[in-house]
Amino acid sequence: MKVTVVGAGAVGASCAEYIAIKNFASEVVILDIKEGFAEGKAMDLMQCASLNGFDTKITGVTNDYSQTANSDICVITSGIPRKPGMTREELIGINAGIVKNVSKSLLEHSPNMILIVVSNPMDTMTYLAHKSTGMPKNRIIGMGGALDSARFKYRLAEALGAPISDVDGMVVGGHSDTGMVPLTSHATRNSIKVSEFLSEERLAQVAEDTKVGGATLTKLLGTSAWYAPGAAVSGMVQAIACDTKKIFPCSTFLEGEYGLNDICIGVPVVLGKDGIEKIVDIPLSDAEKAHMKASAEGVAKTNGLLEL
Ligand code: LAC
Repeated sequence: MKVTVVGAGAVGASCAEYIAIKNFASEVVILDIKEGFAEGKAMDLMQCASLNGFDTKITGVTNDYSQTANSDICVITSGIPRKPGMTREELIGINAGIVKNVSKSLLEHSPNMILIVVSNPMDTMTYLAHKSTGMPKNRIIGMGGALDSARFKYRLAEALGAPISDVDGMVVGGHSDTGMVPLTSHATRNSIKVSEFLSEERLAQVAEDTKVGGATLTKLLGTSAWYAPGAAVSGMVQAIACDTKKIFPCSTFLEGEYGLNDICIGVPVVLGKDGIEKIVDIPLSDAEKAHMKASAEGVAKTNGLLEL
């Protein structure tokens, strides 16, 4: 199993690190445009191998896509991250050009790859990769919902005073401060609906804190987060590599599901060796349906800024 991670920045490096630590891939290639940077990150990570007990071989390359040849899974993290006060949508100008070129270069060398898009604005970048490569829709996956759901579970556990392992919950919709739809009606604590424990007001606060999860971290860190994004990507890569059929909310091209068409947005999907193996249609409450519709309108508006 060969995995390529494009972008040796904080998200790309932590993604490579988590993949290696989980020890399921034989090879991870990190590619970056900055001379020597990916090579340095790869060497530093390889020097963790004996300490952390993994056998994954990590190599770094400067913009040499031939070294990524025959990757099974490729992850695009490249592009500029947001600064405090910026929305993900404001990154579109620079990141669209990068994602278009990177996805084409990857495809040239790995025609059977499954592509995971992390660069922001993620749903629009996933749509762009879909339109510009013409790859089958099951092989292009946007990473947002897996991360947002982890942040939702963190906030739920905090409100419940419960361990995170006791909590389950999912965020669908667009990966943006206003577009996320935390599914509070489906969230549970050990199979019991969280509404049994938390008031409507407290749940609304949990949802609000979840939606601005990335912005909160950007303000604290001065740039966007990397540990949880890297962990979320590595979880998706593992589900595909190990054909686990785990369900994650991911951005995928919709053709009628959830009443939406010609858009990539977060919905629950089954991940396995073929990438997105199934889109899972779940019932939403009326409020969640209305949020999903508004979220899709926001993503479609950003998609309208693309030069396809
Ligand atoms: C975040 C970035 C990855 O939410 O979009 O932290």
